[in-house]
Formats: sequence, structure tokens, C-alpha cells
Amino acid sequence: MEFCGTHILSVKQFERSDVDRVFEVADNMAPYARRERITKVLEGAILGNMFFEPSTRTRVSFGCAFNLLGGQVRETSDVKTSSISKGESLYDTARVISGYSDIIVMRHPQMGSVSEFAKASRVPVINGGDGPNEHPSQALLDLYTIKKELLSNDRQIDGMNIAMIGDLKHGRTVHSLSQLLLLYDNITFTLISPIELRMPAGIVSELTAGGHKVIETEDMEAGLNDNDTVYLTRIQEERFTTKLEADIYRGRFRLNQSIYTRYCQPNTIIMHPLPRDSREEANELDNDLNQHPSLAIFRQTDNGVVVRMALFALVLNVADKIDDSATDVGWYTQGRF
Ligand code: NCD
Repeated sequence: MEFCGTHILSVKQFERSDVDRVFEVADNMAPYARRERITKVLEGAILGNMFFEPSTRTRVSFGCAFNLLGGQVRETSDVKTSSISKGESLYDTARVISGYSDIIVMRHPQMGSVSEFAKASRVPVINGGDGPNEHPSQALLDLYTIKKELLSNDRQIDGMNIAMIGDLKHGRTVHSLSQLLLLYDNITFTLISPIELRMPAGIVSELTAGGHKVIETEDMEAGLNDNDTVYLTRIQEERFTTKLEADIYRGRFRLNQSIYTRYCQPNTIIMHPLPRDSREEANELDNDLNQHPSLAIFRQTDNGVVVRMALFALVLNVADKIDDSATDVGWYTQGRF
């Protein structure tokens, strides 16, 4: 794909070589993300960071990624304080904000809304999550993490076994990740969810048609066996009509130290897009795994910064100029990584 000036809306836009390019640029971002060096390659550029749904790490990491490249960030993060609450259309908001920004990241509760917004935008738009549909930057950072974690054990993405657990119906992260994995060969997907919250049938058919093996089950213990990666997700309460309806499924699947030791392989990678629901009644991923070497959840969040830096650099066409303006940092930076 030609990254320069392109909207990043769906993982379906990516070929395997595009993913490799993102990962290669992300690798080059490490010294900047670790605060060993500073670049000003996007000095003067403005990111319109528009989040019309709750977000902590996606919003902040996109913002930090832009700052780390030398750019500035303008946040719109509440429907109530934006003109959308006055009935403004996505078209008008896109026309206006794209006049103030060089690139826009947008999250919105409606499926397809970010694509609609992008059509009216005069600058590139990155999808930060459109309802239950897609979350392409999360899928890229998840895959980047999987690749690194597997490589440290001499394994690779092709041929791996991955279990996805939880609300697979509404979880946009698992929708995007599984579709991105279509670019690889011979993967076994074990999809563990309540029957009502199964992965959409269209995605399951695509995986099967792509030559991958798909097992759908409600039996978590059996499904955990023999996986390179287990990817847990939260019950997406905000997609249910009432909290009571979501409560039916909360806490159905839980991973903790004893279940991991009993059913997983010794080095199965544990992933979660976060936030994990740590309330007693949910607790899908227990704190007793926090020190476990295979727990990759905070490596995922760290990787989110370099992957998002790479997307900005590619779309704004500065990926080969990062080091040109680079200098060393002058402040205390020890101990962060
Ligand atoms: C996810 C999301 O918003 O889709 N979070 C994230 O972006 N890291 C997952 C979730 O909210 O459960």
C-alpha cells in the first residue's frame, strides 16, 4: 500500500509486506520512545485526537506518539463538549477539524462512522475504534507484540495457535486481530466465548476460507491447552442494552495463576488489549499473574507507542527522516524500560 496520505481505517487495507514495513519503522522508533533520543521530524504538525468514546491508552498513546515525533496534539474527547452534541453531522465536523489538523485520529461508538468521517476529511484519518467493528492500530500493536514474544522463544506467527477468550461478538480488537492474522499461514484459532457472544460468523468463514483451523467452544479449560498465545477480552458492557444483560456473562471466563499453570503451556503468552475488568464479579485476568514472565499486557501498551509512531511517520511520509533532526536527551530517563 502507498502509506503517504492514506486513511488507516481497516486491517483489510494491509498486505503482509505493509505489516512488515510498519514493524520495521516501529523498531526504528524504540530509542525515541525510550527517551534515549529526541526527534523533531513532525515539528509544527498538529494531530486532531478525537475520541467520542471512553479511552485511556489508545488516546494517550496516539498523543504521546505524535509528541515523540515533535508534533502537537489537540484533544476533543467528550461528545458533550463538542458540537456533535448540538446535532452537527460527521461531515461538517470532519470538514472543520481537518482544516485545523495535519492528521486526525478518531474513535466513535458507531460502526462505519470513522470511514464516513474520513470521506469528508481533507487530511488522513486513523481509526481509533469504530464501535464494535474495527481497531486497526490495536491489531498492529498486538501482532507486533505476538511476533516479538514468539521470536524470543524461537517461534513464529505462521503455524501458531491462538486462543481468543471473552466477548468475541462485540470486541473490535479481536475482530481486527483475527482478520490481520489472515495474512499469515496455518493458524489455529480457538475461540472461547459464551455461545451468544461468538465471533461474527462472517469472520469465522473468512478464517476457514483462508485455510486456518477454527475451533469454537464454551469450554475454557479444554480450549486453553496447546496455545502459543491466549488473548483475553472484557465483556463489552457498553454494547449491551442494559448492564444487567452484560452481567450474565461477566466472570464466565477467568484466567489466574492456578488455571494458567494447570491448563496452559509453560510459556503461553498472555495478552489483553486492556482495560481488564478487575472488579470481583469479572476479574477476567487476575492480578496474581502480574509478575509472570509470559504476561505481555504491559509490553503491549509500550509497543502501542512505537507502532503508532510508525503509522504517523508512514502516513505523513517522514519515516526515512526520523534520525535527521535527532539529538540526545538531557534529562533523567533511567529505569523506565
Ligand atoms: C479496547 C477497545 O477500546 O476496543 N481497548 C483498547 O483500545 N486498548 C478493548 C476494550 O475496551 O475492552
